[in-house]
Amino acid sequence: MQLIITNDYEELSERAAKIIIDTVKANPYAVLGLATGTTPLGLYKRLVADHEKNKTSYKHIRAVNLDEYKGLPSDHSQSYAYFMRKNLFGQIDIDLENTYIENGTAKDEMAECDRYDKLLGAMRRDIQLLGLGSNGHIAFNEPYTSFDSKTHVVDLAESTVRDNARLFNNADEVPKQAYTMGLSSIMQSKRILILASGANKAEAVRGAIMGEVTEAVPASILQRHGDCILIADKEAARLL
Ligand code: GLP
Repeated sequence: MQLIITNDYEELSERAAKIIIDTVKANPYAVLGLATGTTPLGLYKRLVADHEKNKTSYKHIRAVNLDEYKGLPSDHSQSYAYFMRKNLFGQIDIDLENTYIENGTAKDEMAECDRYDKLLGAMRRDIQLLGLGSNGHIAFNEPYTSFDSKTHVVDLAESTVRDNARLFNNADEVPKQAYTMGLSSIMQSKRILILASGANKAEAVRGAIMGEVTEAVPASILQRHGDCILIADKEAARLL
């Protein structure tokens, strides 16, 4: 795993944006695996600014997202589908038809997982962006998720519900289940870019990069990927 430590969040976002923009420029038909959460927001702002200023085009890009809350329709303001439209897709020239995410309100859970796995099989990501949960999760793959996992529905860990409650009015509003891309599908991406910012990620960063490769720390699986870049700011890297 390649490690880049930055002075702060701004520099982290800048470095990450350059990697994504370079990917898009090198292959205007690239498949991007995208993530939600607060960490990629600075990166998305830079992609939008670059699109406006330098006209980097996403016209032929396909974007596949990691996860979605179960039960939230795509027009719900807390859904990840809404997050992506608001923070990125609505501000660049990507065709919304080329953006993919699990359907949080699908009637048949198994069929929805199957649909997404087929889609992932047909669209290998050129680069997969990831955030990192404070408990070491990636996407919504909580500790002890099988490394062989494919798309599935998870019961969110209490700590995840607590962490994500800051984005809702209160913890009761946070859905307790979500669809997530599985760890084996994440590993199929040609390249992985994982971002971690802030002191509350320090323990997870240490587990991801230095610890034993174990299902107790889902992000530790990334040590087995041949082309993975971790960008952490100083605070997130303080235990390395
Ligand atoms: C959420 C998401 C993850 C994200 C993580 C960290 O639970 N499902 O994809 O990486 O939390 O979020 P944040 O970047 O807001 O710290």
